[in-house]
Amino acid sequence: MKKLESREDIEHLVNSFYTKVTQDETIGFFFSDIAKVDWDKHLPKMYSFWESILFGQMSYKGNPMAVHFPINEIQAMEKRHFDKWLELWRKTIEEHFTGENADTAIYKSENIAKLMAFKMEMARKS
Ligand code: HEM
Repeated sequence: MKKLESREDIEHLVNSFYTKVTQDETIGFFFSDIAKVDWDKHLPKMYSFWESILFGQMSYKGNPMAVHFPINEIQAMEKRHFDKWLELWRKTIEEHFTGENADTAIYKSENIAKLMAFKMEMARKS
C-alpha cells in the first residue's frame, strides 16, 4: 500500500472519492441535482483544499463552510448525509493509501464534518 505524499496522490484520491459519491443513493443527488456541480471547477478546488491541509501548501483559497449553507437551505444536510460522506472518504483512503497523511486525512475530515454538521443544523434553526 502506498503513502499519500504528492499532489498526484491527492488527485487520484479525490477523483476516486467523487466517483463513489456521485453513484451514492444517499448523497449523490446533492452534487448532481442540487448544486449541479461543475466538476472541472470543483475537482481542482478539492485537490488544493487537501493539499493545503496535508502538505501546508496553502494553495486553497476559499471558505469551505460558506459554500454549504445555500445547499443546506435547499436540502437539509443531516447527520446521515455526513456519516455517508465520511464512510466513503474513509473507504476510498483505505483502498489506496496508508501512513500518517492517510490517517490525518481521515481524522481532519471527521473534525470538519462534525463542525459543518453542527453549523448546518444551527442555520436551520435560526
Ligand atoms: C453531506 C456532506 C457533504 C455534501 C453533500 C457536500 C456537498 C458539496 C457540494 C455540492 C459542493 C460544491 C458546491 C459547488 O461547486 O457549487 C461542495 C464543495 C466543497 N465541499 Fe462539501 N459537502 C459535504 C461535506 C464536506 C466535508 C465534510 C468537507 C471537508 C472535509 C467538504 C469540503 C468541501 C470543499 C472544500 C468544497 C469547495 C468549496 C469551494 O468552492 O471553495 N464538504 N460540497
